[in-house]
Amino acid sequence: MPQVCVTQRIFPEAIELLESENLSHSYHESDQALDPQDLKEAVKGCEGLICLITDKVDGGLMEHAHNLKVIANVAVGYDNIDVNAASERGIIVTNTPDVLTETTADLTFALLLAAARRIPEADTYMRSGQFKEFKLYQPQIGVDVFGKTLGIVGMGRIGTAVARRGALGFGMKVLYTANSPKPEAEKELGATQVTFEKLLKESDFISINTPSTLETHHIFTLKEFKQMKRTAFLINAARGPIVKEDDLAEALESGLIQGAGIDVFEREPLIDPKLAQLKKHVVVAPHIGSASVETRRNMSLMAAQNVISALKGQCPPNALNSEVWKNVS
Ligand code: GLV
Repeated sequence: MPQVCVTQRIFPEAIELLESENLSHSYHESDQALDPQDLKEAVKGCEGLICLITDKVDGGLMEHAHNLKVIANVAVGYDNIDVNAASERGIIVTNTPDVLTETTADLTFALLLAAARRIPEADTYMRSGQFKEFKLYQPQIGVDVFGKTLGIVGMGRIGTAVARRGALGFGMKVLYTANSPKPEAEKELGATQVTFEKLLKESDFISINTPSTLETHHIFTLKEFKQMKRTAFLINAARGPIVKEDDLAEALESGLIQGAGIDVFEREPLIDPKLAQLKKHVVVAPHIGSASVETRRNMSLMAAQNVISALKGQCPPNALNSEVWKNVS
């Protein structure tokens, strides 16, 4: 019986790390997730599970894995895992924070700039031979980013990294919402904590950087879009269900807001058909927030390291439910 089950293709260095620790493994070396039944079969008997966000790891699956000690998600978000069900069974859950913070903030800002300056529209125009001469009033005339107001919904690690780019790189005024004040960001970036309503009303660009939870489900609907500036942009590189996607499409189509940069979708991998049709000031990407070679490699290694620690009897560095460890150790 293999000790570790790796559900999908990860970076080879992480597999080598497991091997260097003499951990036997079953490796589904594919970019396609296993279907739920095959996943159940795969985890049977394993002590460690390395999984991706497209693997649904719930209590039902855990029932099939009596030996499971650790679930290592190769992601910072873990809404695919029922952490409470894991805790009840004494299973440690880990994620991959920090290594992807700057990469995800880069992508967030790339979406913001691309939507504001209409880069994909310009790219299509250029490649299709439509560029005949320079015009002062270009068809892709955009809006400025420099000096505008950036609203961060969720001033955690990634939110702060996005805010830093805005404040220090683009002279933006930063507003934020968070569960607690962030005095360091306020000092470094001149950021101001505000109510959600004030952030909606005053921001030119809103970046969502909060996890997907019951509390954050659909916090952006038509009601919120109506409170935003008609010139505002929404950027989401966090999780799809935070935004009611058909409301977003309607808000863009009807001009309630001006644009959007969207990397995550409510019914991923599907995109709302109406949203897919909208091109002006709208940029979409296939969940590539952390997708740089360096970062995806580091995430893979971090997940392997988390499993190795747990199977060696140490509390893994990125345990999300470390109280479980205290109870079993
Ligand atoms: C990717 O979406 C992640 O949570 O790391």
